[in-house]
Amino acid sequence: MYKDRIRCNVLLDRIVSADEAALLIKNGMRVGTSGFTPSGYPKAVPMALAKQARAGRKVQIDLLTGASVGDELDGELSEAGVIVRRVPYQTNKAMRRAINEGRVQYLDQHLSHSSQQVRYGFHGNLDVAIIEACAITENGHIVPTTSIGNSPTFVQEADIVIVELNTSQPPEMEGMHDIYIPQDPPSRQPIPIINPGDRIGSPYISCGPDKIKAIVITDIIDKVRPLAPIDDLSKAMAANLIDFLQQEVKLGRLPQKMLPLQSGVGSVANAVLAGLLDSGFEDLVFYSEVIQDSALDMIDADKFAVCSGTSITPSAAGLVRFKDKIDFYSKKIILRPQEISNNPEVARRIGVISINTAIEIDIYGNVNSTHIMGTKMMNGIGGSGDFTRNAYLSIFITASTAKNGAISCIVPMVSHVDHTEHDVSIIVTEQGVADLRNKSPKERAVEIISNCAHPDYRAMLNDYFERAVKATNNAHTPHLMGYSHEFHKRFIETGTMKCPRA
Ligand code: COA
Repeated sequence: MYKDRIRCNVLLDRIVSADEAALLIKNGMRVGTSGFTPSGYPKAVPMALAKQARAGRKVQIDLLTGASVGDELDGELSEAGVIVRRVPYQTNKAMRRAINEGRVQYLDQHLSHSSQQVRYGFHGNLDVAIIEACAITENGHIVPTTSIGNSPTFVQEADIVIVELNTSQPPEMEGMHDIYIPQDPPSRQPIPIINPGDRIGSPYISCGPDKIKAIVITDIIDKVRPLAPIDDLSKAMAANLIDFLQQEVKLGRLPQKMLPLQSGVGSVANAVLAGLLDSGFEDLVFYSEVIQDSALDMIDADKFAVCSGTSITPSAAGLVRFKDKIDFYSKKIILRPQEISNNPEVARRIGVISINTAIEIDIYGNVNSTHIMGTKMMNGIGGSGDFTRNAYLSIFITASTAKNGAISCIVPMVSHVDHTEHDVSIIVTEQGVADLRNKSPKERAVEIISNCAHPDYRAMLNDYFERAVKATNNAHTPHLMGYSHEFHKRFIETGTMKCPRA
């Protein structure tokens, strides 16, 4: 019964229809919503807004979320032409199309940055926050649902708040969240997480009844993404990674229980954690962003002592399991704002082992996580950069080829750089592992080509590398620069590094 969930009596009068709430969102507004990796995002109000726009209401907004959200929000609103600017991460097909066709201006941000950039005023005023909740406390504070993302900052900074009270979300989630907003410079204090299981905040998002202008009751279930079955390729990548980690333990470079693990999103990331289930590692700690099915498996098998993230994003079946055993999972799971789950200071202090997926990697160790062929946006950098640069060990995984072998994922030079050679320690493909630590660029090239490239592409890559070494007289990072080389040659020939027009 929804009335039990609104424990602040004055707010019972603010229950309205989704249509009425959507009318609070005016043309030109900036709107921040809950939601992280299709989980815990508002659905009823965005769908009503899209319907109004399709019926001719002029309404265009900037949309900020935690990370990716479902079709009811990104899909409906981008197809209805409502979104003009989108921050900071998405995975929706319609939204991706709108971005790549130039209809939406997309700001692809490190996910730990987005809350503070809102507080710093870098995006301008936040007009409205729409937050999915499983309850509202006696004092009008908001208990979020399966994700936290940027919601605490959105609620703090927005002029008004619309709550979607979702009765399909279990009220037993209350107590699983740990909400902490850091002070901003010059007053910021150290974030007091010393151990990954530390709780440092409150179990609700501070709001108060005055700011909440509308409450919409809904029971729409998150459109979680199906996970691909774990195939032989993913199993091979996971096996290579686990062999490597076991070797690191043997060599004394990692403790027996390893260090806190961070694992990216998607089917490959899911397969890697699934591989850990039978690996012999015990009592592990997960300090990550997204909690997927395989993380629930690890909790079930008593392999995770702590499981900290900012969202729970299981498959449809995983969601049912999560709800059925919520009392059990709530003892191990802590949900934090994304600026804390992904916090560089914390990641470096606790020594995270980051494991993320790449689109392509070059022979010197630069990684492209976001752009297909250098120009088309896939999803965004997500939290991969937050963890990679600050990890104890930063690992990237990719199949050695894409599109049934037609494209090599190991390339001479990445077509877009998200993670530089300075940030990447280990590369894993189904072919093997390249250990880039303590290696110069040319040593890395040999390691990556021989251990990670697909055999069909090794000769081509070696040929490129050898010709580049020759053409540059064995330079530090040999490249055949192509057009870029022609561009730079002008400066070399005139003997000046000044712009010709200066
Ligand atoms: N060239 C062209 N296409 C490529 C490619 C390449 N080198 N490598 C992959 N692709 C295509 C795949 O074919 C697939 O296409 P499809 O959707 O048409 O089938 C698509 O890219 C996704 O690749 P897939 O192999 O299915 O991997 P994935 O679902 O695990 O996603 C990323 C990989 C990199 C796109 C995804 O992990 C991502 O968005 N990462 C950035 C954010 C991040 O790391 N977040 C985690 C931080 S906690």
